[in-house]
Amino acid sequence: MADTVPSIEALLQEGRTFPPPEEFTAQANVRDAGVYQKADADFEGFWAQWAEELHWFKRWDKTLQWDPPNAQWFTGGKINVSYNCLDRHLTGPRRNKAALVWEGEPGDWKVYTYAHLHREVCRFANGLKSLGVKKGDRVTIYMPMIPELPIAMLACARIGAPHSIVFGGFSPESLRDRINDCQANVLITADGGYRRGRVVPLKQNADEALEGTPTVRTSIVARRIGDDANVSMKEGRDVWWDDLVEGQSTHCDAEPMDSEDMLFILYTSGTTGKPKGVVHTTAGYLLGAYATTKWVFDLKEEDVYWCTADIGWVTGHSYIVYGPLANGATSVMYEGAPDYPDRDRFWAIVEKYAATIVYTAPTAIRACMRWGESYPAKHDLSSIRLLGTVGEPINPEAWMWYRENIGGGRCPVVDTWWQTETGMILITPLPGLTTLTPGSATRPFPGVQAEVVDEKGDPVAPGQGGYLILKRPWPAMLRTIYGDPERYVEQYWSRYPNVYFTGDGAKMDDKGFFWILGRVDDVINVAGHRISTMEVESALVDHRSVAEAASIGKSHEVKGQGVVAFVTLKEGVETSDAMERELKAHVARKIGAIARPDDIYFAADLPKTRSGKIMRRLLRDIAEGRVLGDTTTLADEGVVEMLKQQYEDDE
Ligand code: PRX
Repeated sequence: MADTVPSIEALLQEGRTFPPPEEFTAQANVRDAGVYQKADADFEGFWAQWAEELHWFKRWDKTLQWDPPNAQWFTGGKINVSYNCLDRHLTGPRRNKAALVWEGEPGDWKVYTYAHLHREVCRFANGLKSLGVKKGDRVTIYMPMIPELPIAMLACARIGAPHSIVFGGFSPESLRDRINDCQANVLITADGGYRRGRVVPLKQNADEALEGTPTVRTSIVARRIGDDANVSMKEGRDVWWDDLVEGQSTHCDAEPMDSEDMLFILYTSGTTGKPKGVVHTTAGYLLGAYATTKWVFDLKEEDVYWCTADIGWVTGHSYIVYGPLANGATSVMYEGAPDYPDRDRFWAIVEKYAATIVYTAPTAIRACMRWGESYPAKHDLSSIRLLGTVGEPINPEAWMWYRENIGGGRCPVVDTWWQTETGMILITPLPGLTTLTPGSATRPFPGVQAEVVDEKGDPVAPGQGGYLILKRPWPAMLRTIYGDPERYVEQYWSRYPNVYFTGDGAKMDDKGFFWILGRVDDVINVAGHRISTMEVESALVDHRSVAEAASIGKSHEVKGQGVVAFVTLKEGVETSDAMERELKAHVARKIGAIARPDDIYFAADLPKTRSGKIMRRLLRDIAEGRVLGDTTTLADEGVVEMLKQQYEDDE
């Protein structure tokens, strides 16, 4: 896989193009190329037209109130997300259609029709109410990929209690920080989940987290594992999910929410050590997820749509739960790992449910590529008609492999660029219209205005690298950082006036297609997941033997990037393999396994500027084996030479 991280020059010379197959265009949801122009001419009108497709308790008065950097969409409207995802499908033939198809890792499975899902959501919503959860109260969710997770989300949305989902792979400490930041009163968890045949001890992690969370009164525990989980329930705090919903009514009115009421908080890594609570609101978010699911995935009534993400990340929020269910689609969710019990698990799932649309991450595609064609070849994948990718740049080789081996050479591949903050896909092909080029996310979704600019904010010429910015508000855009409005302004709206700064580098080619180059800040993208260098560094310096640490992202064949750390130990502590292992485990324990460094290098000193700032740029050059960039601002040039030598010796 020589071109896992191709140079941008190589990318821009990528000559292969794939126009949409005629049969695909003939039946596509969007066939009129004029949509771009129309949306551009009146983007508010464009979004307002989409809003007509949703259910409103009360119609909105004003489509957009744009007071940069504060956007309010559909003000005056009253709407409920859970109602839009469930109730409005109950009156017609969708009532008994599969809403959620769930596959457990051990091979157990369940199908929820819209009617059944609605009943379970109502029962759980009533259960939450019985615990005193009210509109506006935050509820933290720390669960495996089991049906109770979307049920909990939809129940929260139903009663107007914003959820904050914490990915089940995060550590007790990460969970605790996120609970405390949003002051949740209730935690919803499970007795465990399955991952590669082992039980993930979520309840134990939750118990540890709850030792330092004064606001949490109740913890609801769903039963996934049973007796083997061996959990202990704390009297007065813990309640079993089953006991809570026992005897609850299957009717629960959906709370009419203001368009701008908070729907959820989702924490993501930024440039500092403290994760940011990205706030999404009700109407705009729902609309963005709804519209993009319908157009980007060309979603039809009879599709079986499968997004392989975990609901703990934004992709799962928008494209397993809210987008597909708002469209009345059949959405597949899978609990476990792609290589358990064997490396054909994904393709076995496609065959089992006859999935028609598959949406996954480049890292998963590269892992499958490594495992070889024989695994997908074992299964009938002829049901698939569209493929999607998200989360990180996709190298053309992986794109081609996906198209050929999973899509049988006949399906469009949509490379979708977006972020936790954007809530919805923003740069993407429209599969019935766009001629695809491997490696490019192609064009902004209609109504979205993106540009590549230089330091001063001026647009750069085609083929030149620059910063990716967004010039217009879009409905699903984050509204603030929970509890930290200044950080919202500073992070996204301060570099250029009234323009959203994405934190990504990009190039535009002469066709106007975008090529995303990756983060330009101190965020590392490991297998499509964001980790901040500062988080890893704080975890390292928390160890008693560490004096100083710097971490960077280094290109990785499968994961896109891996975490590498440079560490200075305290006086008198010996460097050793055991110490390296201990520090890696320490980071995994503090943050979660996704942040575990691939490599740790011990250094007598770290390259710093004269004002004492660690120069990560030079560390990246060292780790990538590049010629060192400008070293003139270094306090001590010898340090970097020494490190470089040492690094090369270790490699
Ligand atoms: O760097 C971009 C990368 O993932 C970042 C957003 O990460 P997160 O908020 O965790 O959301 C991931 C799923 C939406 C972006 O700033 N990224 C996301 N999609 C792509 C991408 N990079 C290149 N191509 C993509 N399609």
